[in-house]
Amino acid sequence: MTKDDVVIIGSGIAALQLAVQLNNHLNVRILTKGKIRTANSYLAQGGIAAAIGANDHPSKHIADTLEAGRFHNNLDTVRKIITAAPSLIKNMSLQDDVFDKDQNGELFLGMEGAHSEKRIVHGGGDATGKNVVEHLISRLKENVMIVEEVFAYELLLNSEKTRCIGVKAKTADQKIQKFYGSHIIIASGGCGQLFTYTSNAETVCGDGIAMAYLAGAEIVDMEFIQFHPTLLYIDGQTKGLISEAVRGEGAILVTEDGTPIMEGIHPMKDLGPRHVVSQRIYEYLKKGKPVFLDIRKIKEFSKRFPSITAICEENGICLADGKIPVAPGSHFLMGGIKTDLIGRSSINGLYAIGEAACTGLHGANRLASNSLLEGLYQGEQLSKWINGCRTEYQEMEASEPLKTALSKKVALPDIQLIKDSMMERVGIVRNETSLKQQKAWLSQFNAEQPHLDTCSETELSKIFMVITASLITDSALQRTESRGGHYRNDYPLEDNQNWLRKSITHKKNQEM
Ligand code: SIN
Repeated sequence: MTKDDVVIIGSGIAALQLAVQLNNHLNVRILTKGKIRTANSYLAQGGIAAAIGANDHPSKHIADTLEAGRFHNNLDTVRKIITAAPSLIKNMSLQDDVFDKDQNGELFLGMEGAHSEKRIVHGGGDATGKNVVEHLISRLKENVMIVEEVFAYELLLNSEKTRCIGVKAKTADQKIQKFYGSHIIIASGGCGQLFTYTSNAETVCGDGIAMAYLAGAEIVDMEFIQFHPTLLYIDGQTKGLISEAVRGEGAILVTEDGTPIMEGIHPMKDLGPRHVVSQRIYEYLKKGKPVFLDIRKIKEFSKRFPSITAICEENGICLADGKIPVAPGSHFLMGGIKTDLIGRSSINGLYAIGEAACTGLHGANRLASNSLLEGLYQGEQLSKWINGCRTEYQEMEASEPLKTALSKKVALPDIQLIKDSMMERVGIVRNETSLKQQKAWLSQFNAEQPHLDTCSETELSKIFMVITASLITDSALQRTESRGGHYRNDYPLEDNQNWLRKSITHKKNQEM
């Protein structure tokens, strides 16, 4: 058993920004399922959006964020985060060589989908996440202890069940350990690995969201999943992200014979919102017609995109041919654990930041390069809040979770089966039939197991995947319209009469 001031579950940009900015006298422990660098943030290629260009203004960035989010966003959150972006970037760019600059020391600004101005700050060409993570790791102080390969699986509440006071986890040597803290932060990312095709790190399976749900936190907007249009696609498998910045530099989507596929589909063509572009590629792939990124217009491709060049070469793609085969895959969860702007959840003492949280910034679809921004902002804001809190006495004996009898036992499904069924029935295109099928399939598994201590890590992963998949499926079934990342071909239009800004919330013990 350990007792710290702050326990952070996850090690992406939001987690590290928080850990770096917490006061030195606070004991901070980072628990991570993989290694410290195993996180989606590390893989992020594109960059961080901030209105710092000569012709740009936060009001334009706000308008783009709302348009991409199909006006499902929380306006106050959008205004605060987007307005803070220029100073967040400027502060970080003064400290280190994190971002790419020209000979005069001015930040290079790239273009990405659905942005009306060039405003994407990037580092190492297309290794922005890696650069920022390395910068933050280098600034961690001695008060921060990192525990790797530890699988957090159950949040601990006090005896009155009014406050989160810790988390139970399995350590690398399979021991169960309780980590207590005055502030428990979930920063474990979204749930990309619930789908066959994904850009996400192997570890990102929805654990934090499922854990928070089981503890009684409010979970919101789970139907909004962003499918990134362009993952490298070879022999029916996706092999990593091909950043939207590639289209920002002039690449276009074409068929095998070179016909452009985005003409007449959206005014912004290849740089239209991600859901529009993903749906278009999906239509072609469903008909057995492959889609490619034609990169011939991009000069010095390998210099601007060294990581993407390496991914392509490792997978036998000859860039001199000027064509990269692509398919859409799950990339980002707009919903998550409902929080306020700084990450406070509906349970005292429990916070969520980064992709695990739903602050309302992204609405129904996230604007490119707004996610690292949200992580940096939330990490900083939460650090300020915790730094200002009086350290309170914490009860350390947690209430035991309710041990209800298992009503039925159906073996948990194969992980691949969960992914394939989610991709097929709850993926880029959904409808009542596919969603009801998936709901019925998921509900036969007894995912809300009362005895998590006795489960193996694989069983825990499956349980968390089934719970998170059920939250997504149920929300998608309830939302009888299409909006942003949620597309139903039986309700293909936005329904502003009934659904504008309306959220679907789940809380344990509600009917699903
Ligand atoms: C990309 O580089 O295309 C991804 C960036 C993002 O998702 O914001």
